[in-house]
Amino acid sequence: MAYNLLKGKRGIITGALDENSIAWKVAQKCHEEGATFTLTNAPIAMRLGEINKLAEETGAKIIPADATSMEDITKLYTESMDVLGGKIDFVLHSIGMSVNIRKNIPYTELNYDFFQKGIDVSALSFHKMLAVAHKLDALNENASVVALSYIGAQRTYPFYTDMADIKAMLESIARTFGYHYGKQKKVRINTISQSPTKTSAGNGIKGFSDFYDFADLQSPLGNASADDCANYTVSLFSDLTRMVTMQNLYHDGGYSSTGISAELLEKTQG
Ligand SMILES: NC(=O)c1ccc[n+]([C@@H]2O[C@H](COP(=O)([O-])OP(=O)(O)OC[C@H]3O[C@@H](n4cnc5c(N)ncnc54)[C@H](O)[C@@H]3O)[C@@H](O)[C@H]2O)c1
Repeated sequence: MAYNLLKGKRGIITGALDENSIAWKVAQKCHEEGATFTLTNAPIAMRLGEINKLAEETGAKIIPADATSMEDITKLYTESMDVLGGKIDFVLHSIGMSVNIRKNIPYTELNYDFFQKGIDVSALSFHKMLAVAHKLDALNENASVVALSYIGAQRTYPFYTDMADIKAMLESIARTFGYHYGKQKKVRINTISQSPTKTSAGNGIKGFSDFYDFADLQSPLGNASADDCANYTVSLFSDLTRMVTMQNLYHDGGYSSTGISAELLEKTQG
């Protein structure tokens, strides 16, 4: 059911790779709620061509951009404002990649070139997207920027290796930039800390499927799906959350507040 929560709003959505991507669901919901937006992803991710389907379905223009390139990001904002006919009201940062995780390298033996690549793609890209928007004055007053994070930023999960540190940086950027952008332009910036979700990035993590089941049992409401995450994101893009900023918001079915669930305890006794 749609409520026209984003009617008249203009946005930029990064990270829709295929129909499992969290960003894909966010784009569908933003469209349902009356927003217009551009879609973007790294040029290399466009090879699959999947994003064309989403663009067609939502009437969005695709603007390829490598989120580590200031030049690409500048083009992304200027073209988006041009195509959408004005300044931007919401931005979704849904970008994450760790070569160390992909190559299954343990935390104590991290490759630092890979680590730096992960920081650049998954955290600094967020700062760059905010800095370019700030420089171009591309965001409207009360605009809302959301990036996706994971509880590995606060608690240790052995398989999450360098992404734990990278997500901690991402969340810190939301707070720190949120202060400055809030003061100067009333722009708000938050991160959503999402449950494990079966996407291309999620499935790339060793043992993900077992861990997904563990988190599902631990959470009183079960794991939050990508669709639920999209609904929550829409609420943060809407005017209903105008005073929410600089927060890391858990969207995890209660996982982050649960010590242990009865179901998991039972399993350990079995
Ligand atoms: N899947 C999970 O379990 C989970 C849980 C919590 C948070 N997250 C976060 O959600 C976000 C979206 O991930 P997802 O799970 O939807 O997976 P996904 O693989 O569908 O999305 C990741 C996206 O990042 C894009 N990307 C990678 N390098 C890029 C670059 N240089 N420039 C621009 N885009 C680039 C990829 O092309 C892809 O579209 C990530 O930040 C991820 O860490 C995922």
